Amino acid sequence: MPIVDAVRLPDELAELDLAETNAVVIDILRATSTIVAAIASGASGVIPVGEVGHARAVSAQYPGSLLGGERSAVKIEGFDLGNSPLEYTHEAVGGRVVVLSTTNGTRAFETVRSSPGVYAGALVNRAALCRALMDAQRDVLLVCSGTDGKVSEEDCFGAGLIADTLTGWGTLTDRAAGVRKKAMNDLGRLGDPARVIGSSFHGKRLIDLGLVADIEVCGRLDSSDVVPVMNAVGMLVAAG
Ligand code: MLT
Repeated sequence: MPIVDAVRLPDELAELDLAETNAVVIDILRATSTIVAAIASGASGVIPVGEVGHARAVSAQYPGSLLGGERSAVKIEGFDLGNSPLEYTHEAVGGRVVVLSTTNGTRAFETVRSSPGVYAGALVNRAALCRALMDAQRDVLLVCSGTDGKVSEEDCFGAGLIADTLTGWGTLTDRAAGVRKKAMNDLGRLGDPARVIGSSFHGKRLIDLGLVADIEVCGRLDSSDVVPVMNAVGMLVAAG
C-alpha cells in the first residue's frame, strides 16, 4: 500500500527524500484555494513564486501574464491582483498566465521541487485531488505551508481531511494519522469546515480585515473538480 505522510511545516521536509513521492502543498487560507479558483476560471496556468522581485522577473518572461499575490494579506503594490479567490474571475484571468507570490503558500512549492508530482491541495478540491492521487499510485506527502514559520491550524485541518479520504487506499504515518484525528475532532465539534478555518489564528486575522467571504469560499469542501499539478516549467495547470 502507498504511504501517506504529512508535515505541519515545510521546514520538516529537510530529512525526506521525495524522488518517488507525490507532494501536495496546502495553504487553505488562501494561496492554494486561490490557485484552484484561478484555474477553474480559465487561467492557462499559475506559477507559484516566493519572492516579489522574482515574480516580476518571471512575469516578464510571459507576455500578457498577470501578477498576483499578497504580503500581510494585502495586495502587493503594483500587482494586478491580490490573493483572494474571489478576485480570480474568468473576466480577470481567463486565458492568462498568473504569477503568484504569497507570504507562505507559494514559498512552500519551492521546497518540493524534487517531487515527481507536485499538486495544489485545498478544501475546495479535496475529493478530486484525492482521486488523482489514488490514480497516480505513488506515496503521498502532504505539506502544510504554515503562517510565518508557525504551524497553521487551517492547513493541518486540510491535510487531515485529505488524509482521511486517502485512508484505506494508503497507509497513514503517525504524523498523517495525527492531523487526521484532530481534523475529524474539529469538524465534529464545529460542524462546518468554514467555521473550523475561520476560528484559526490566520482565519481570525482575515475576518478582522473584512475578508469573511474568503473564509466562506475557501471552506466550501469538495466544491471544485480542478486539480492543479505542476508541469515541467514550474507552472500549475489542470491535471488530466
Ligand atoms: C500565504 O501564503 O501566507 C497566504 O496565502 C496568506 C493570505 O491569506 O493571503
